[in-house]
Amino acid sequence: MKTRSQYICQQCGYNQSQWAGKCPNCDSWNSLVETIEKAPARNAAYSVASGQIFKLQDIKIDEKKRTKTGEGELDSVLGGGLVPGMVVLVAGEPGIGKSTLLTQVALNTSPALRAPSPDSGEGNRKGILYVCGEESASQVALRVKRLQDSKIKIQDSMLLFVSTDVDEIINKIHEEKPELVIIDSIQTLTTQELAGTAGSVGQVRECAARLTGAAKRLNIPMFMVGHVTKEGNIAGPAVLMHIVDTVLWFEGERGQALRLIRAVKNRFGPTDEVGVFEMGEKGLTGVANPSQLMLAERVKNVPGSVVSVVLEGQRPMLIEIQALVVPSQLAMPRRVATGVDMARLQMLVAVLMKRAGLQLGNEDIFVNVTGGIRLADRGIDLAICLAVASSFLNKSLPGDVAAVGEVGLLGEVRKVGGLEKRVKEAKKLGYRVASAESGKSVSAAINKLLTN
Ligand code: TYD
Ligand code: MG
Repeated sequence: MKTRSQYICQQCGYNQSQWAGKCPNCDSWNSLVETIEKAPARNAAYSVASGQIFKLQDIKIDEKKRTKTGEGELDSVLGGGLVPGMVVLVAGEPGIGKSTLLTQVALNTSPALRAPSPDSGEGNRKGILYVCGEESASQVALRVKRLQDSKIKIQDSMLLFVSTDVDEIINKIHEEKPELVIIDSIQTLTTQELAGTAGSVGQVRECAARLTGAAKRLNIPMFMVGHVTKEGNIAGPAVLMHIVDTVLWFEGERGQALRLIRAVKNRFGPTDEVGVFEMGEKGLTGVANPSQLMLAERVKNVPGSVVSVVLEGQRPMLIEIQALVVPSQLAMPRRVATGVDMARLQMLVAVLMKRAGLQLGNEDIFVNVTGGIRLADRGIDLAICLAVASSFLNKSLPGDVAAVGEVGLLGEVRKVGGLEKRVKEAKKLGYRVASAESGKSVSAAINKLLTN
């Protein structure tokens, strides 16, 4: 067989036959890596059932066949549970809790998933196949042990398979016909037919495509773990997005307990659901009321603390924004943002200077979202402005006010989507919402709310 060499960008998957310092497609530097293909990348035996014509009316669709994973928060993000043959990529930074979550899923799969369905003729399925390419079997067993004596019941149906050879894994799946396959992680797998190392774009893409094909052919749901680097770059998930059915993003700060899981893509459900978990000594627990958790340690009536209501997907959540403004000792005063966008903070500070007349030019400004989550919702603009002004002026807000609104360059407060939902959530916890309705500009809001 003829071998040929290709240069594949490790960031975006672009390939060409010549090396270049900069990827012509995504402009990243030094990302092209030589990959030698030993055989045609796609092996017909591994593709989804093809070469066959179906009539639409002959295809059976059974909405009720969704099976629960046993983790309520995860189920709602999936759109109600797993669909047969559904391939779900769980992407997140190393150490965030992906293996923990999927081990829990493997341990507490509901009877619905375990019961053989009489009509499908697939009644002899047994157990959950957990493929570990990353850890040894004893490491997984150790984690199971850690999770086991909590509410989770140990089941003898979890089969461990330690391997990094994708073809061997697919053979095992065919052999065992498990009811659920968990691959931890896709970056550790390789196929002998490609020359690249594990984790290279070529390998990751090919392994994922082969596994997806197997899941579709056997109608088995499958979870795949994919690692994401700190910058959000991924030799993995980015090139995998179009191969899998569903992409779940698992995020949070490692030192903090709170974890969010959101669907970035979902062929079988909505993409605006967000699941909230808390990482504890005994694994992850779903959090039904995140607002309460976020505000648990809040000290009221202190300058620099403002509550806001964000919409994560369709889910309103109360969060606290803290700001600290102190005279700077530096020629270039510091602006430090944790959990909010840096450029946004700089813009808001500029608005405060120009439109509200606050002399922030020689001040260090620190802004922090408590709970360790990252927010992109524009609705927190007003709260950021108020928190900075509050710390600078050393005046606090009334303890029961939650500020919601986008702030424009003219210093105007704008309406944001889902206000009704936000107000309702705020009310539940005894907060009233200050929004565009109650103040038309940032300076008006500052004058009105920062009184004591
Ligand atoms: P892990 O699931 O191994 O992360 P990933 O697979 O995403 O790389 O989880 C890693 C962290 O979670 C690790 O630092 C330990 C912590 N952890 C807990 O806090 N409680 C637990 O019950 C478990 C199993 C892990
Ligand atoms: Mg892991």
